[in-house]
Amino acid sequence: MNVICAKNYEDMSRKAANIISAQIIMKPDCVLGLATGSSPLSAYATLIDWYQKGDLDFSKVSSVNLDEYRGLSPENEQSYHYFMQKHLFDHINIRPDHTYIPDGMEPDAKKACKKHNDIIKKLGGIDLQLLGLGLNGHIGFNEPGIAFEKETHCVDLTESTIAANSRFFSSMEEVPTQAYTMGIKSIMMAKKILMIVSGEKKADIVAKAFLGPVTPAVPASILQMHPDVTLVADEAALSAY
Ligand code: GLP
Repeated sequence: MNVICAKNYEDMSRKAANIISAQIIMKPDCVLGLATGSSPLSAYATLIDWYQKGDLDFSKVSSVNLDEYRGLSPENEQSYHYFMQKHLFDHINIRPDHTYIPDGMEPDAKKACKKHNDIIKKLGGIDLQLLGLGLNGHIGFNEPGIAFEKETHCVDLTESTIAANSRFFSSMEEVPTQAYTMGIKSIMMAKKILMIVSGEKKADIVAKAFLGPVTPAVPASILQMHPDVTLVADEAALSAY
């Protein structure tokens, strides 16, 4: 595993944007696996900036997102559809029919998950998967205890994740309790993985995930088994590593 230590959140974001840009420049029709959360926000802003300066072209890029809340429509400001439009897609020249996010409005979980799995396969797999890290070691919405061999599936969110994500909703009751998420198997099948982590709050889980045993109790620990992982983390997040 390649560990890159960044000075702070901004530096982490610029380094991550550099890696994503390199992927697009080397393979203009690449498939990017994208993530939501606060971790990738500034990396996305940097990519938008470079696109606007004419340094990046997304016209042949496809993207697949890790996850979506079950029951939230794309118009809901807390949905990951909305997040991706607002923080990336609306500002770059990626084709709208080349961006794929699990369909939170499909009530049939099996159907929603199969559709996402089929898309990933049809695209020929993911070239570069961007990941954030949940406080309890989750990746996407793969919570502790999840079976490693799953592809996209429907999950019940843990109390700690619901609590952590409640900061984006006006009340705890509004936070969805289920999500469709790419599974560990889908993530592990990506050719390259780029994880970004920032802040002291994540220091313990970074150490557990990358220095501890590989166990479903810490979903991100499986990344130790992937042949091409780059962790870009700031000094605070690496303070226990
Ligand atoms: C959510 C997302 C994850 C993300 C995690 C961490 O639960 N489903 O994909 O990595 O939060 O979020 P943040 O980057 O805001 O710490």
